[in-house]
Amino acid sequence: MTHAVRIHRTGGPEVLQWEFVDVGKPGPGEVRLRQTACGLNYIDIYMRAGIYPVAALPAILGMEAAGVVEELGASVTELARGDRVAYPMVAGGYAQERIIDAQRLVKIPDSIDDKTAATMMLKGLTAHYLLFRTYPVKAGDTILVYAASGGVGLMLCQWAKHLGATVIGCVGSKEKAKVAMANGCDHPVLYREENIAERVRELTHGEGVPVVYDGMGQQTFAASLDCLRPFGVLVTYGNITGQVEPFSPKILAPKGSLYVTRPTLATHVATRELLAEGAKRLIDVVSKGIVRNNINQSYALKDTAQAHRDIEARKTTGSTVLIP
Ligand SMILES: NC(=O)c1ccc[n+]([C@@H]2O[C@H](COP(=O)([O-])OP(=O)(O)OC[C@H]3O[C@@H](n4cnc5c(N)ncnc54)[C@H](OP(=O)(O)O)[C@@H]3O)[C@@H](O)[C@H]2O)c1
Repeated sequence: MTHAVRIHRTGGPEVLQWEFVDVGKPGPGEVRLRQTACGLNYIDIYMRAGIYPVAALPAILGMEAAGVVEELGASVTELARGDRVAYPMVAGGYAQERIIDAQRLVKIPDSIDDKTAATMMLKGLTAHYLLFRTYPVKAGDTILVYAASGGVGLMLCQWAKHLGATVIGCVGSKEKAKVAMANGCDHPVLYREENIAERVRELTHGEGVPVVYDGMGQQTFAASLDCLRPFGVLVTYGNITGQVEPFSPKILAPKGSLYVTRPTLATHVATRELLAEGAKRLIDVVSKGIVRNNINQSYALKDTAQAHRDIEARKTTGSTVLIP
């Protein structure tokens, strides 16, 4: 028996319960993992609150972690006992031990510690696909990033800067502006006080940006469209302020033949090839210190409810680690 954080119903942070669970034996293609560090992501809030579905209740939430392979199921050939591994986007992460499909795991080199590995996978692979696949950022681009001091936000800022972009970053406070600026954001915009589109036009000499990375959703959708230059791409990739309302595509024509896309990391790690390609690039930039994942909060895994309260209250910056 081992411990995990489970929910028996969706709701507020109080539904997260520290409980004994029976992990069982790994089946064919699976391994048993002893987890050493777990990540916290906004998707965990959506699942806990019932905004995104969970497979079945009771459910163990949590979508990324790192650990050590303890036991191999039949036909697992690419991993060995004692390997250090991490994964993104596999529900059941808030646990001391778990069974997991070996194909979803990425080996972690010695240059990356467990806490970093655990908290970089979901956020870092998201930053990767946004910057390389959804809209390939080029040197000389000026881009707009929301929640620039957040978990995904700080990794986006640093990586985009490394690619030669100028980064405009929306942040909720002056303190968060400092954090973002220390991580590659050139122009913080205090979006609770300033008009986002006006400020972006001012910073781009009226032109607008080629891409907006908007994890906020409903409340910022209209402003985000108004920040784009002709042929620009609005990447709406989260819904912290609610789901974007249905809209008519015809609004995109007069604003400059714009594009809107709603991607998810799930598609971008759906095959072993996609996962491996992103992980290789991510491990490279993290190992070289080009992208740091700023673990600014740490909690015991049994205190996950408090971590949920803090991220929802906008108290966190960078990444949050949960220690099993
Ligand atoms: N589609 C995908 O593949 C994918 C993958 C990963 C993450 N995401 C999305 O990326 C976004 C960021 O995720 P994250 O895990 O890195 O979280 P995070 O940015 O570390 O934390 C959330 C931040 O959102 C901002 N925010 C604005 N309005 C808020 C509100 N009403 N309540 C709470 N926070 C609010 C806050 O920053 P300020 O105070 O600066 O506003 C807060 O710190 C989320 O929308 C998430 O769903 C999407």
